Amino acid sequence: MNELDALVDSARAGFAQATTPADLENAKAQYLGKSGRITELMKGMAALPVDEKKSRGAAINQAKQAIEAALTDRRQALADAELQSQLKAEALDVTLPGRQRGSGGLHPVSLTLERIEAIFGSMGFEVADGPEIESDWFNFTALNTPEDHPARSMHDTFYVEGGSAKAPNLLRTHTSPMQIRHAVQHVKRHRAALDAGQSMPEIRVIAPGRTYRVDSDATHSPMFHQCEGLWVGENVSFKDLKFVFTDFCRTFFESDDLVLRFRPSFFPFTEPSAEIDIQFQQGPLAGRWLEVAGSGQVHPNVVRNMGLDPERYIGFAFGMGPDRLTMLRYGVNDLRLFFDGDVRFLAQFR
Ligand code: DAH
Repeated sequence: MNELDALVDSARAGFAQATTPADLENAKAQYLGKSGRITELMKGMAALPVDEKKSRGAAINQAKQAIEAALTDRRQALADAELQSQLKAEALDVTLPGRQRGSGGLHPVSLTLERIEAIFGSMGFEVADGPEIESDWFNFTALNTPEDHPARSMHDTFYVEGGSAKAPNLLRTHTSPMQIRHAVQHVKRHRAALDAGQSMPEIRVIAPGRTYRVDSDATHSPMFHQCEGLWVGENVSFKDLKFVFTDFCRTFFESDDLVLRFRPSFFPFTEPSAEIDIQFQQGPLAGRWLEVAGSGQVHPNVVRNMGLDPERYIGFAFGMGPDRLTMLRYGVNDLRLFFDGDVRFLAQFR
């Protein structure tokens, strides 16, 4: 092998060893740079006789071109390798399952509450919200519930700190205190008209929310929901209660032939009082009566505690159980399922 072929080979080997573009530029300088091997050979030609110059020049040029070609090849190879490793690093595995964002949904009881609000809203009822920690006054006394009423016993009611010994605080046992709270606000807003002997707009409100009792089994939970209803005016009668509640139940259960029964009962805050049962005409519950609410004509003492004259204002109230309505609507047979928080159950209502 002649000296020029050996030079080309050593350049190829040097370029092959370069693994980065910077290494390659260094290797190039050794051959093609200002004081590189090829440049040195060119300079050495000056000393040659004229007739040798031509053939020597051609041979050196050929070696130079071979080295340049090797350099170009190696540059390309390094660029390709760089691209490959970049592609590999950024590769997407399109067969991996996608990352999903879990979608939530409303709790079945919330769906019922929304439905109750929409139906009563369409009948002109406002929706009111009130505190779950109540005073003895709103929960019992103002609702004509006497001191010695069994509902006041420690056995039935969660008493909480705060308040006074005479008027302790408690977790409300029903939404009925909202009758007083809402009516008092309403009366306050229309005080001037009332004092001037004018009439006030009717009170028409529902108050859904959480209620608490010391009670726990498959059909009772220490926390449960109620929805109170109140309609007070100068000419509101039991007939209106029957109409409104029947209309509500038929709309809620989407059944025009649902039959309601008003069964005489007792509540301290209503007189007369009735429990409302519904009878299903079709389906798996056909023929069965199910209690869905307590109701009655607001007791004169309660009307007085609202700040109104019971000789002039009269109305009705009801309190129903949205948890119960939810069980009936969806055919759920254990109340506790609503409060266990098991997504396998809850996801069915999404
Ligand atoms: N508050 C009663 C309860 O929890 C239910 C009730 C009965 C509410 C009669 C009323 C009513 O407004 O008029 O048992």
